[in-house]
Amino acid sequence: MSTNQTQIQLIQPDDWHLHIRDGEVMKDVLIDTVRQFARAIIMPNLKPPVTTVDLANAYRTRIQLQLKSLGIDSFTPLMTLYLTNNTSADEVRKAKAAGITAFKLYPAGATTNSDAGVTDLKYCHDALEAMQAVGMPLLVHGEVTSPEIDIFDREAVFIYQVLDPLRKDFPELKVVFEHITTLQAAHYVRDAATGGKNLIAATITPQHLLMNRNAIFAGGIRPHNYCLPVLKREEHRLALLEVATSGNPRFFLGTDSAPHAKGAKETACGCAGCYSAFNALGLYAEAFESVGKLDKLEGFASFFGPDFYSLPRNTRKIILVKQAQIIPNELPLGDATIVPLRAGETIAWSLV
Ligand code: DOR
Ligand code: ZN
Repeated sequence: MSTNQTQIQLIQPDDWHLHIRDGEVMKDVLIDTVRQFARAIIMPNLKPPVTTVDLANAYRTRIQLQLKSLGIDSFTPLMTLYLTNNTSADEVRKAKAAGITAFKLYPAGATTNSDAGVTDLKYCHDALEAMQAVGMPLLVHGEVTSPEIDIFDREAVFIYQVLDPLRKDFPELKVVFEHITTLQAAHYVRDAATGGKNLIAATITPQHLLMNRNAIFAGGIRPHNYCLPVLKREEHRLALLEVATSGNPRFFLGTDSAPHAKGAKETACGCAGCYSAFNALGLYAEAFESVGKLDKLEGFASFFGPDFYSLPRNTRKIILVKQAQIIPNELPLGDATIVPLRAGETIAWSLV
């Protein structure tokens, strides 16, 4: 990697947590992702969710057809399955054999399209045992869903109520704590004892590195800054920035870019999700630059993800330049539009 004040050259990154949806919408969001990333972990929370190998294979084919129609052959979707109370150990073994990259745990009711998610991990014992046995990573949306738990505490409570017991029951299971938002999660992952093995990691989004919860209420309600887990206090943002830029390989890039049409966000009960795919790398560069750690961006964005998943690192290089860019107010999304993260604002770094 080479960096100076105005240019960063780095190995092409991957996005280890991405929503691209399906149908017409998929084309519009894929274009933004493939401009920057070589691979992405494709989240399975479609309607209906991607719960079986057959459904994942069909989804992968639809993605590949879309890529082909766009003339893109330089992007690889990495498929995931949606864990349910009924996922069998056989399905896990079948998934491993079919080249599925991971399973995703959505606690039922935690977020967008999570109704079919897991109500209690006790129902998943056989599936989890099989994941541990075949080396299939479990990607975790880490929030408890009990309505009596304050929304800002749901991630921290999840750690001791669910995640730590899970890791004790399945000590060899590979776990990715997705889109972490708190100091507690950052320190849990940083300090977890794994006997030197590659067993735990966390992804971090650009919005959680750049914004705290004030951004949801700045001068009025800001639906486009609302995602789940919700933005937290400044002390949490600083803790995330600290681990992301520390060079610790347990922390890597996952945008959680989650497209929702403008009308579904700007309404009485708006959907959760920030659309960061448009210039995600520019946003991450801004975050790393804010603490003088641009030299740590390449590890976070391009090396630690593939190392965790035992995949080869990319070899192609990309260049980010310090060239101000105004993020458009809206972008096309099927027959609607979408408001990207930081719409109408200037960001400093752009991809060449
Ligand atoms: O804000 C979010 N949006 N968080 C999630 O966990 C899901 C995502 C989505 O699919 O829209
Ligand atoms: Zn997500």
